[in-house]
Amino acid sequence: MDIKTDSERARDDFLAAIEDAVALDALEQVRIAALGKKGRISELMRGLGKMSNEERQVAGPLLNGLKREIGEAIEARKTALEAAALEARLAEERLDVTAPVRPEMSGTVHPIAQVLDEVTEIFADMGFSVAEGPDIETDFHNFTALNIPPEHPARQMHDTFYLPEKEDGSQLVLRTHTSPVQIRTMMAKQPPHRIVIPGRTYRCDYDMTHTPMFHQIEGLVIDRETHMGHLKGCLIDFARAFFEVDDLLLRFRPSYFPFTEPSAEVDIGCSFKAGEFRIGHQGGPEDDWMEILGCGMVHPKVLENCGLDPAEYQGFAFGMGIDRIAMLKYGIRDLRGFFDSDLRWLRHYGFAALDAPTLGQGLSR
Ligand code: DAH
Repeated sequence: MDIKTDSERARDDFLAAIEDAVALDALEQVRIAALGKKGRISELMRGLGKMSNEERQVAGPLLNGLKREIGEAIEARKTALEAAALEARLAEERLDVTAPVRPEMSGTVHPIAQVLDEVTEIFADMGFSVAEGPDIETDFHNFTALNIPPEHPARQMHDTFYLPEKEDGSQLVLRTHTSPVQIRTMMAKQPPHRIVIPGRTYRCDYDMTHTPMFHQIEGLVIDRETHMGHLKGCLIDFARAFFEVDDLLLRFRPSYFPFTEPSAEVDIGCSFKAGEFRIGHQGGPEDDWMEILGCGMVHPKVLENCGLDPAEYQGFAFGMGIDRIAMLKYGIRDLRGFFDSDLRWLRHYGFAALDAPTLGQGLSR
């Protein structure tokens, strides 16, 4: 057989085999069979050495041409196969944007944050703005200026946390109520005042309904002609909006606070029918009252302590436990759960962030 025939056969065989190779590893087998060390074309090339000069002048270009042609055909096929493989992978790995999302766990709004929002929203509707003050207070702001001088028995009602005594004998306290911010506000600015003061408060106490840290919201209105009727109207409107009972009855029960005169505690109507607590009177023998806040007309001495003339300015104030009204509204029995950071509790009592039931509706309901 002459070299020309050999070369043409090899060419036809390999071009067909390259065409037939449908995968990269099959193509690699073809390359080894053709151009590998012991490949058919390599064998043919080795034959050149034994040829005469004339024979080699014909066979040399022929075999070199064959080697190049097969090499190029393999490369072209390889590129095509790789492109097809990539294509297949892309098709297979395509993102399915319609697939449902994984059930990620989302956080919830803590009932205290929720209730603080609800309460401030309602008072904002009545034209109140929010004021804040420090958690660590002076004795003056927390007690003395509020008409609770050092020997006053009311100090004992406040199981106060005291900070270490300073060199001059004075002692800072963790504020036992939000009332000191009344003093700060009246001393900083001229009336009229219409503010609510939400914040943390501290007392040395711990049981089902008391924790050493808790939350209050304070209200203060000071103007030239403010009277008890304003106080009552304001708190009645608030309680009806907050508890979402339009005809909710409120009872203003005479009481005592050093910083107000007269003073009252406010109860809301409720009932305990068959052991079940409901807000609002139901018209039966189970109807009862539940205390929700303290209030009163700001004591003339407090006004004087802040540099105001009681003959010119009067006003009212109130203070309410946020945690307590949150428990009442949302049926939470043990206050301590609020601060245990137990995720099961939070998931149960928490509010969806975009689903706050009363937030943004306030009095307009
Ligand atoms: N500061 C009182 C407390 O913590 C609550 C309170 C009662 C605040 C009457 C007031 C008020 O502003 O007028 O028990």
